[in-house]
Amino acid sequence: MAIMPILVAPDPRLKTKAKTVEKVDGEIRRLMDDMLETMYNARGIGLAAPQVGVSRRVIVIDVAGEDEDPNPIRMANPEIVWASEEEELREEGCLSLPEQYAEVVRPVEVKIRYLDYQNEIREIDADGLLGLCIQHEMDHLEGTLFVDHLSNLKRNMILRKLQKARKGQPATV
Ligand code: NI
Repeated sequence: MAIMPILVAPDPRLKTKAKTVEKVDGEIRRLMDDMLETMYNARGIGLAAPQVGVSRRVIVIDVAGEDEDPNPIRMANPEIVWASEEEELREEGCLSLPEQYAEVVRPVEVKIRYLDYQNEIREIDADGLLGLCIQHEMDHLEGTLFVDHLSNLKRNMILRKLQKARKGQPATV
């Protein structure tokens, strides 16, 4: 497995719609494993392939608590087949918008269909943190960041803060 660099906004690759996976084969499985290692290394709970510069409909998630056993989930081509009418406002962050947080409204519960590690079709019902995380990661496959759900004013404020933070850092090669 390998740790991959995580793209930070504004990067055009984060705004691009990801390509469908034809089959979960060895190459996609390796991508899923590398993404999980990258996510754990960055102390994230979810990561989408476009965030590591790969235009594929792949996401990985682990919302297990610090004192629980790891519970990695690997999904290809996730689709929302049902979403609750009930919505809730919850705070989100993103590895591609480091140290920025804002409240986003999303359905409380969703049913997701996806291809698993064995290329089998699966469905799960997800609510709480898992439901939120899946919806956030699926947005990345459409080129959507959580700030795109906010008003222009709030979004620009966050993007400006990010730019400022980046200018203050020494150049990395
Ligand atoms: Ni994100």
